[in-house]
Amino acid sequence: MTLGISKLAQELPASATMEMDALVNDLKAKHVDQVINLAAGAPDFFVPLAVKTAMHKALDENRTGYTKASGIDPLKQAVVNDLAKRLGLYYVPAQAVITPGGKQAVSLALMALLNLGDEAIIPAPYWVSYPAMVKIAGGVPKIYGPLAKWPWHDLKEVITPKTKVLIINSPNNPAGYVLEREDLEMIASIAIANDLWVISDEVYSCLVFGNRKHVSIAQLPGMQERTIIIDSGSKRFAGPGLRVGNAVGLQEVITAMGKLQGQFSGCPNSLGQAGLLAGFEQAEADVEKMCQEYERRCQELIMPFAQEMLAKHQGFSFLKPQGAFYFWFKLPYKYQGNCDTFCKNLLQAKLLGLVPGHAFGCPGWVRLSYAAAPQKVEQALKRLAEFFDE
Ligand SMILES: Cc1ncc(COP(=O)(O)O)c(C=O)c1O
Repeated sequence: MTLGISKLAQELPASATMEMDALVNDLKAKHVDQVINLAAGAPDFFVPLAVKTAMHKALDENRTGYTKASGIDPLKQAVVNDLAKRLGLYYVPAQAVITPGGKQAVSLALMALLNLGDEAIIPAPYWVSYPAMVKIAGGVPKIYGPLAKWPWHDLKEVITPKTKVLIINSPNNPAGYVLEREDLEMIASIAIANDLWVISDEVYSCLVFGNRKHVSIAQLPGMQERTIIIDSGSKRFAGPGLRVGNAVGLQEVITAMGKLQGQFSGCPNSLGQAGLLAGFEQAEADVEKMCQEYERRCQELIMPFAQEMLAKHQGFSFLKPQGAFYFWFKLPYKYQGNCDTFCKNLLQAKLLGLVPGHAFGCPGWVRLSYAAAPQKVEQALKRLAEFFDE
């Protein structure tokens, strides 16, 4: 047969987290309750009641038609109000586009900004989908790192005349770090000096621990006009299946993204948009509670485990989570950095699903999501400790 699928489709890897998730779920079917899946990056909470109620109401009112391709105006207004309130960043609603999830917001931003062959810098560890998204947009992903804590000034070394975009993500998936203002100042000075767009993925910005505050690079002088901020209801309102996210930035770019979306997916989910609008207006306390619970799990379950493993296993190290809901650790020496084999063996032997770090550009590291019931996290850490001991 001479017909075939495109080179692009052949070469793109499947999402590693989703693949691991599927593997775990296959096993789950056989072992029922025994498998623990800490591979997926999905909150274990239900959406706040206000979100649910608004979606019921929208359905009762038959609001199931197409909406404006770029999303409903009241939600755009809520998105810009939220940025003004939380970060002191002022935009008009026409500078916001509502998208089917943060995923599509990042993709559309790349499509709106990159020409064929333009380079986008992706610091590692990175969220799994960025390199594929850059390729889909016709660009070339340039990986920076991997390093645990970046000397961001080295970023200059990966910039070429073809570099057009830098993608940053804080709080970070998979590493749980939160960029400090000084890091952001360093990145901003490089972006300005080299005339780069910055796509700032802030989907975990409401999940920051302790006294730290989320800082957006768009808050720094000269950055608002060159930054596209990405957000989503998936983590913030614990509704990944609602498929509603957003992007905010320079109107020209946002309009282009809306135009692309009109051709791509028509519009975001109408009921999900109604739900998110209620979320912005009424669910602040619910979001705060979820954040506190992630932090509690981190302090009471993850940190004692991490300290114990650090003392016991040579080569083991970790990044103390500062936000989001991921624990990111480096394998003890005895596994020789083979995180893929480690995760597969762990799944078979201990029925515990984690994601190998190579999926995030960091071989030798592993991601554990503690967005799961505390008893499950506790049980998972016990199994992991046993596996390390064997
Ligand atoms: C860093 C980051 N950005 C974007 C997304 C996209 O989320 P969604 O498309 O569900 O809004 C995710 C999801 O895991 C993520 O971790």
